[in-house]
Amino acid sequence: STSYPFFGEHQSGIVTPAQDRLHFAAFDMSGSATRDDLIELLKDWTVAAAAMTAGKDIGDFGAVSGPYDAPPEDTGEALGLPASGLTITFGFGPTLFQTTEGADRFGLAARRPAELVNLPHFPGDRLNPATSDGDLCIQACADDPQVAVHAIRNLSRIAFGRASLRWSQLGFGRTSSTSTSQTTPRNLFGFKDGTANIKAEEPTAVNDQVWVQSGDGAGWLAGGSYLVARRIRMGIEPWDRTILSEQEAVIGRNKGEGAPLSGGTEFTEPDFALSGRENIPLIAENAHVRLAHPTQNAGIRMLRRGYNFVDGNDELGRLNAGLFFISFQRSPHQFTEVQLNLARHDALNEYITHVGSALFAVPPGATRGSYVGATLF
Ligand code: HEM
Repeated sequence: STSYPFFGEHQSGIVTPAQDRLHFAAFDMSGSATRDDLIELLKDWTVAAAAMTAGKDIGDFGAVSGPYDAPPEDTGEALGLPASGLTITFGFGPTLFQTTEGADRFGLAARRPAELVNLPHFPGDRLNPATSDGDLCIQACADDPQVAVHAIRNLSRIAFGRASLRWSQLGFGRTSSTSTSQTTPRNLFGFKDGTANIKAEEPTAVNDQVWVQSGDGAGWLAGGSYLVARRIRMGIEPWDRTILSEQEAVIGRNKGEGAPLSGGTEFTEPDFALSGRENIPLIAENAHVRLAHPTQNAGIRMLRRGYNFVDGNDELGRLNAGLFFISFQRSPHQFTEVQLNLARHDALNEYITHVGSALFAVPPGATRGSYVGATLF
């Protein structure tokens, strides 16, 4: 079974080949928590994350070797399961740096990167505050859902009294590839997703577009990134009543192979200038891939790492389903620029609604013997 190191220059779970399953959680620090509590929590989380990503249970005695008269240190549901490619990625939300009623919550106000502020309101947003934002986030990805859930469960348990779960999201199928070694998966509209994504094998693009550089502003964040999460509800039923040619026109690629409508195969670059009959462009002006493409956005790219979700159904018998969009970028501005373009013009908007949103600064990787986020303090 695959295992990825927890310690390193960058946190795992970003350029790591996207695993099949996700459990994402956002936390709020408790009202009484101090700066020392926050630091202790990050230290405790680091020790536990290092153990779990290595396929071990947490604590000195784990799930079943501890004293009979105490609750086990590890909750136990991953006993006997391998690491399953587990990665655990931590992030800091804007509110962690906030000053409330004149008090600097954790003495971090002066350390807030200028760009770490809530994303702007986009046209069409219908955000639920209860499933948005948060002081801290943890992204757990694994190839086994039980392993991802075990990680979030144990990290939440460790946080008890210091931080509590604000919202969380399960994802059951990756909607991107982040390595050329992976095949392109499909999203719930049935289209290949991740074709033009930034891949780990493109070091220049990863450096220019994903990792915060030392001259970018907040020095403590160098080697880190910004994580944007958007819970996007997809109108499965209207989409399924839409004719194939319209579905393809909305995306700008064909459904079978994922090739651009301007021709070629999956990895052929789209040609937005190419027109067919009556000078109508082969890739429509409002097609998703045109509006999201770097040539329409001043060269901007991002590393997408989202997941499909189905959370049962609503009271009208419609699937409560969609894409839990996650992207990593060197600056939140990259997401904002592209999303503004999409929110205004994308043909896809008839079928999707953004219902949750969050932005986190993802610190660089932890060094062995230290803890995640240490550069901040
Ligand atoms: C490309 C679907 C939301 C950014 C694509 C592709 C599909 C797709 C099928 C083409 C294959 C590929 O290159 O990956 C969707 C669906 C969405 C959604 C179903 C919502 C439910 C978003 C959002 C953003 C975004 C919110 C960012 C603001 C991109 C980018 C590309 C892309 C940057 C690559 C464009 C290129 O370079 O050719 N998307 N997408 N997408 N999407 Fe989305």
